[in-house]
Amino acid sequence: MPDGVIAGFLAPHAPHFLYGENPPQNEARSRGGWEVIRWAYEAARADLERLRPDVLVVHSPHWITPVGHHVLAVPHLRGKSVDPIFPNLFRYHYDITVDAQLAEAIVEEAGAHGLLARAMRNPAFRVDYGTIVTLHMLRPDWDLPVVGLSSHSWPYWDGPTPDEEIREVDVLGKATRAAIERLGRRAVVLASNSLSHRHFSEEPDPPDDMSQEHHYNDLGYRWDVRMIELLRAGRTREVFELMPEFTREALPETKSGSVTWMFSAMDYPEVPGKLYGYGAAIGTGNAVMGFDLTDSIVAGR
Ligand SMILES: [Fe+2]
Repeated sequence: MPDGVIAGFLAPHAPHFLYGENPPQNEARSRGGWEVIRWAYEAARADLERLRPDVLVVHSPHWITPVGHHVLAVPHLRGKSVDPIFPNLFRYHYDITVDAQLAEAIVEEAGAHGLLARAMRNPAFRVDYGTIVTLHMLRPDWDLPVVGLSSHSWPYWDGPTPDEEIREVDVLGKATRAAIERLGRRAVVLASNSLSHRHFSEEPDPPDDMSQEHHYNDLGYRWDVRMIELLRAGRTREVFELMPEFTREALPETKSGSVTWMFSAMDYPEVPGKLYGYGAAIGTGNAVMGFDLTDSIVAGR
């Protein structure tokens, strides 16, 4: 089996999906809900299992670090994570094994690529819900080591600008790939990222009333469908040509860089993405998609 970056998943992190699953780690209880996305994750999990990775590497928009790129590098992290916006849905007890060697290698490579990067070695660090929801939905057994990367962005500061941010995460993706290849890891990269991201400011009562769940507006829905169709067709170059316009009009979390980072780590493959499912969470657009590189890696050797 080849090593290196073998696949990527677009894996959105609305806490609603995990809340709908009712895993024992979450204190909040639901009656289910958001099934279309949860069934999509079920199918993605089976494909992830077939890929047999050594490690999952995730970039999260909700671990925000205004100064530089930070990488989870504590071998074992245990604690409770609470979503600051939806504490009623997400209070999750986590127990995470980190591939600290790969984390340190990513920090080294990021530095060598000219980025400001730091290993996060504080054992009491509280892991964000973006990292946790994506990892839990794709691998609820938590039996694979992971590495988490922060989002070097801050919506209320002048810098980095969206353009600077995209350039930075492109380089971060290259550094991530270099570290994975140097250590010979068989890695799957995960973009913890929704698509269109305008959302309702009030929750239905109860929050899992699915008669109230729908896309916030038609503009966001149409942008999402356009981007999904391009990704399904493997038209990666066009996706990134459209990315600035998409980011401006649909306000997706792509401005935090996770999608660009993932595609850069995969070396912007023109492979058809597999769509597992698409749906709304409190109005935002969420697609679960997989990009399997194993055929192209074998063909390229
Ligand atoms: Fe988010």
